[in-house]
Amino acid sequence: MHTHPFEPFWPIAKLREEGVFFYRKAIEGYHEDEHVEVADHGDMILFGSYSYLGLNGHPRINQAAVDAISRYGTGTHGARLLAGTLDIHRELEAEMARFKGTESAVTFSSGYAANVSTITSVVGRHDTVICDKLDHASIVDGCNLSRAKLVRFRHNDMEHLEACLADPANPGHKLVVVDAVYSMDGDVVSLPEVSRLCRRYGALLMVDEAHSLGVLGASGRGIEEHFGLPADTIDIKMGTLSKAIPSGGGYVAGSRRLCDFLAVQGRGFIYSAALPPPSAAAALEALRVIQDEPERLACLRENVRHFAAALRAIGLSYADDTTAIFPVICGEDWAAFRLAHYCQQRGFYVQGIPHPVVPKGKARLRVSITAGHGKEQLDDFAAVLDRGIDELSIPRDGSGGFQGADSSRSRRNTPSMGLAA
Ligand SMILES: Cc1ncc(COP(=O)(O)O)c(C=O)c1O
Repeated sequence: MHTHPFEPFWPIAKLREEGVFFYRKAIEGYHEDEHVEVADHGDMILFGSYSYLGLNGHPRINQAAVDAISRYGTGTHGARLLAGTLDIHRELEAEMARFKGTESAVTFSSGYAANVSTITSVVGRHDTVICDKLDHASIVDGCNLSRAKLVRFRHNDMEHLEACLADPANPGHKLVVVDAVYSMDGDVVSLPEVSRLCRRYGALLMVDEAHSLGVLGASGRGIEEHFGLPADTIDIKMGTLSKAIPSGGGYVAGSRRLCDFLAVQGRGFIYSAALPPPSAAAALEALRVIQDEPERLACLRENVRHFAAALRAIGLSYADDTTAIFPVICGEDWAAFRLAHYCQQRGFYVQGIPHPVVPKGKARLRVSITAGHGKEQLDDFAAVLDRGIDELSIPRDGSGGFQGADSSRSRRNTPSMGLAA
């Protein structure tokens, strides 16, 4: 059956009809302690923020952005290779390299562009790129665009990864790409094993630190610090400037050879304008604040522990108190939409995540905790979840009651996180 080219994948009309459509809901103001002013809703408490350290709106970071506008204006003069490079781009890259313990770093206009540009530069049609099945969509897109052979191993399954690395049918250079923290599940990659296997089989290792920078490790330096591994464990350290760092943009940190290569080869670097001055300045200042205010990470850790305990007390199981992401598995898409709506009606800003962003039958609320939450807010939200789960008869064991297998791509242009492809 032919559908219209503009037919959306999600049942948007039905969501609107049922009054549960909450996507692109406008935040009109951001206040302290995760309070936000939301169109048609008024004051809500945000439980879906990526600003894990609560740094969005930090006075030093705001001031750095304002100062950058005064000095350079709001835009750059084009791409980095032409007239777009500012001294603050260079400072940001030097600071990021220091923070990540690498020789060098290079920035892009988004994390998406960083992933796509890097993967397409490093591997080509005669090579193999090996990904975890739950890798972020920007990694999957980079792999597809690179024209390398794409091989995917079962989530965090090291035996399967080894089989893929050992398979003589996989040609050329091998690049393994994993997320440090999986963005819809909140679990952590088995980095010691992944890096050991990459060394054994001579593969390059790239790790996406979107959700671990600022969050994992004693000082927030990320996944290697978390596991106590040396700073050269990962060949290509990618991350975003839009999460714990409250700005926009992406980076890759690594050897000088890698970064010099990406700066002349990465299409998202060459053919896209430089990070705007306020974004670059805010990201630079945020990196400094993360180092100057370690109490923020301590507070985030405490909140994560507290919330995980509150969820366990209502019968949801969370084995891991490490990351700031808590999926509440609901099952069918409509169960997630309805539970999200239940929470929204009670003043909690949280989103339902349906298939195909996550596997079929594993729709969920994607809840995230920040250093800005207070304990009372965490307890109140857990209590609302408890009542909502009861009223909507959602199983608490994560099964969601769905009986079918994970589907394969069922419609064109699936906006997948990599799961349904
Ligand atoms: C794991 C992961 N990688 C990459 C990105 C893309 O980053 P950006 O939003 O800066 O384009 C995201 C964004 O959500 C992400 O979660």
